[in-house]
Amino acid sequence: MDIESARRFLRLCERILVITGAGMSAESGIPTFRGEGQRWQNCDVKDLATPSAFDADPRFIWDWYLHRRSVVAASGPNAGHYALAEWSKDRSEVTVVTQNVDGLHEQAGQRNLVSVHGSLWHNRCTKCGHERIDRSIQYADLPRSPCCDALERPAIVWMGERIAMSDIERSHAAAFDAEAVITIGTSGAVTTVTSLVAIARARCAEIFDINVERSAVEAHCRLFGTAGELVPKLLAA
Ligand code: OAD
Repeated sequence: MDIESARRFLRLCERILVITGAGMSAESGIPTFRGEGQRWQNCDVKDLATPSAFDADPRFIWDWYLHRRSVVAASGPNAGHYALAEWSKDRSEVTVVTQNVDGLHEQAGQRNLVSVHGSLWHNRCTKCGHERIDRSIQYADLPRSPCCDALERPAIVWMGERIAMSDIERSHAAAFDAEAVITIGTSGAVTTVTSLVAIARARCAEIFDINVERSAVEAHCRLFGTAGELVPKLLAA
């Protein structure tokens, strides 16, 4: 199916699940996770997004997150984020599930958004789990929670950690009901994505994948190109 046929198909659907990954923000200048050279201070970033890495050296991990905050603070949503937010404004049955923690969908005005991996801009108390918004990009001393005066950690779902039950329920309900799923800029390597696509496929939803290369998403229709270029075209009126 070409992009024009995909666009026409989607115009006939009401219940649509959109799943976004790191490639959605690539054109905003945010590095993807599994792209080449994704290292920070000589460490593979995949090894940093873990509870054990934080336990071993909280300062090092916080510095990585503060660095990421400063990269995101200097960027902004791209044409793909804006087109998606605008298109879904009057579509109450569109749900967007993002693996991204950068907050760029929110900044673009996205409604009905489920941020399954948390937020770069939230801190969580390591004692009681209370979360608060924090937009600092530097800490002289590591942050402590106002509730328990305990060390705070980034409120991110790290490798091996569970997604919040409310987020699972919302995203699974959207996958169960969807007539179509659009995956954008995700490698399809994370079970969050594969399980949602599997649920929707089993319910006969049509799966569309936007990516610069062939991803592992089990799509019926592959649209090759960047999110910033193809999302506005696919969702054009
Ligand atoms: P990855 O970094 O694994 O994959 C990014 C995908 O985006 C790749 O398939 C690229 O080909 C594609 N891509 C790159 N630039 C693009 C562009 N401009 N337009 C469209 N596609 C583009 O990111 P994800 O699959 O999203 O989870 O996986 C990210 C997750 O991996 C993170 O949320 C993190 C990690 O495990 C946790 O921390 C729990």
